[in-house]
Amino acid sequence: MADFSLEKDILEDKIKGLSDREIGNKYNVNLKFIEKSITKNLGINISNPVNTLSNPVKIIKKIAPKDFSLEQNTVWSFKSRGNWATHNGNYRGNWSPYIPRNILLKYSKEGDLVLDYFCGSGTTGVEAKLLNRNFIGIDINENAVKLAKENTDFLTKTADENVIYFMVGDARNLNLINDNSIDLICSHPPYSNIINYTHNNKNDLSNYEVGDFLKEIEKVAQESYRVLKNNKYCSILIGDMRKNKNVIPLGFWTIDKYLKEGFVIKELIIKRQHNCKTTGFWYTNSIKFNFLLLAHEYLVIFEKSDKKKVENYKSNYTEASFRQYEKNKIKFIENNNIQQESATVWIFEKKDWLYNTLNNLIKRYGNGSYSIYNDNPKKSSNLLIYFYDNNFCNFSKNFYNYLEKDGILAIICEDIRIDDNLIYSNPIYIEKYFKEDDKLKIKEIVVIQIKDMCNPNNKDFNLNINHKYLIIYKLNG
Ligand SMILES: C[S@@+](CC[C@H](N)C(=O)[O-])C[C@H]1O[C@@H](n2cnc3c(N)ncnc32)[C@H](O)[C@@H]1O
Repeated sequence: MADFSLEKDILEDKIKGLSDREIGNKYNVNLKFIEKSITKNLGINISNPVNTLSNPVKIIKKIAPKDFSLEQNTVWSFKSRGNWATHNGNYRGNWSPYIPRNILLKYSKEGDLVLDYFCGSGTTGVEAKLLNRNFIGIDINENAVKLAKENTDFLTKTADENVIYFMVGDARNLNLINDNSIDLICSHPPYSNIINYTHNNKNDLSNYEVGDFLKEIEKVAQESYRVLKNNKYCSILIGDMRKNKNVIPLGFWTIDKYLKEGFVIKELIIKRQHNCKTTGFWYTNSIKFNFLLLAHEYLVIFEKSDKKKVENYKSNYTEASFRQYEKNKIKFIENNNIQQESATVWIFEKKDWLYNTLNNLIKRYGNGSYSIYNDNPKKSSNLLIYFYDNNFCNFSKNFYNYLEKDGILAIICEDIRIDDNLIYSNPIYIEKYFKEDDKLKIKEIVVIQIKDMCNPNNKDFNLNINHKYLIIYKLNG
C-alpha cells in the first residue's frame, strides 16, 4: 500500500527546495521513490517543482549557444547540457538541446516539417522554433504537453512564419498524420522503465518492461516509416540498461526494430554521458563487483531509402562487414599495472588503444589465463579475445572449445561505412546473432573512443567514425 503521508511530506520538502539527496537521507528513500511520489502527485516527472509551478514562462536571455559548430565525428560529448532559450534540465531525462540542434541543422532545412512523437518538455520544439522549422510535438502525458507549450511560448524574430504544434497522443498510432508527409523525425523515447514519466498510464511506454517495450516500439518504428517522406531521416536517442551486473542492450534491440521496418542506418553516433561517477565509491565498486558504469547512449540516424538502395544495403552486409585485422597488430606488451577503466566509454589514442584495451580486458577478466582467437588460441582460457573478421562463421561454431566454464568472450569490432554512404554496424549484427545462443549472456558493451581519430575539419556530409566497440559475453556454466 502506498504511504500517502510520506509522499505528501516528500512533495512539500521538494517545494521547500530540499535536494533529492537531503530528502533521500531524511526519509530513507531512493531517487526512484522520490520521482514516483512527484510524478503521482503532480502528474509530471520533474526535478524542481518550484520552477515549474511558480515560474512557467521564462525570460529568454540567450537564443543560441555560444560558439556552436556542427558535430563532425561519431562520438558526441557536450560538457554542459545547454541553457539557451528556455532550455533547462527540470524534466527528468530530457535530452540536451545540442542534440536536436545538430540534427535539425544537418538533416532538415528552414520551413520543413519536423516531428517529435515523444516530445516531453518540448526541447526539440524549442529548437524547431529557433531554427524556423515547422513542428509537431506529441506526448502521451497531457502535463508534459502543457509544459512543452510553456517552454515554446517565447517570441523570436521569425516566430510567426512557422507552426509549432503540440498534442496529446500516442507514438504507436499517428493516424492524424498523413503517409509520406514528414521531413524529419527527431525523437527521444523512454528507455523502457528506467524513468517512469507517468503514474500507471497504460499507454506510457516508460511503464513497460523490456520485452513489452520492444513489442510496442516496433509499432512506433512502423508508424515512423509510414509518415516519413522517402529519402528523409528519422533520428532517435536510446540507451542501454543494467540488471544484476549485466548490460541489457536495449539500444541495439531498439535499433534492430527500426531496421526490421525497412530503415537503413545513415549514422550511428555515440553520445557520451557525463553524469556517471568514475572515481571513489563507484570506481571501487566497479572493480569489486565487476561491472562498468553506463556512460553512453546511441543516437541513430535512420534513412528511409528507396527500395533499390535498401536491397543493395542488405546484400552488401556480409562482405562489407568483415575487416581483417593484421596479425602483427595483435602483438602487444602485457602490463598488469595498467589503470583500470570503470565506465563503458574507454578513451585512448591511436598508438596505444590496442595495448590499453587488451590490458584492461586481461586485468578485469583474465584471471591468470587469456588467449586471442585470431592468433593461435590456447585451449581453455578464462578470457578469449576475438577480433571480428571474415572467419566469424567458423569462430561462432568453435569458440566454446577455447573457453573455460564461466569464461569471458570479448569481441572487438566496428561500424563500417559501406557503399551508398550508409553504416553497417558489426556490433548490432553480432549481438543479434548471439542473442539466440542461450549459452552466452551479454555482459558489457564498451565503446572505445580513439581521441586522435577525431577530425574537427571534416567537411563531408558523412560523420567521421572515431570509435570502435568491445562486446563482452559470459559463457554460462
Ligand atoms: C525521454 S522522454 C522525452 C524527453 C524530451 N526529449 C525532452 O527533452 O523533454 C520520453 C517521453 O515519452 C513519452 N511517452 C511515453 N509513452 C508514450 C507514447 N506511447 N506516446 C507518446 N509519448 C510517450 C513520455 O511521457 C516522455 O515524455
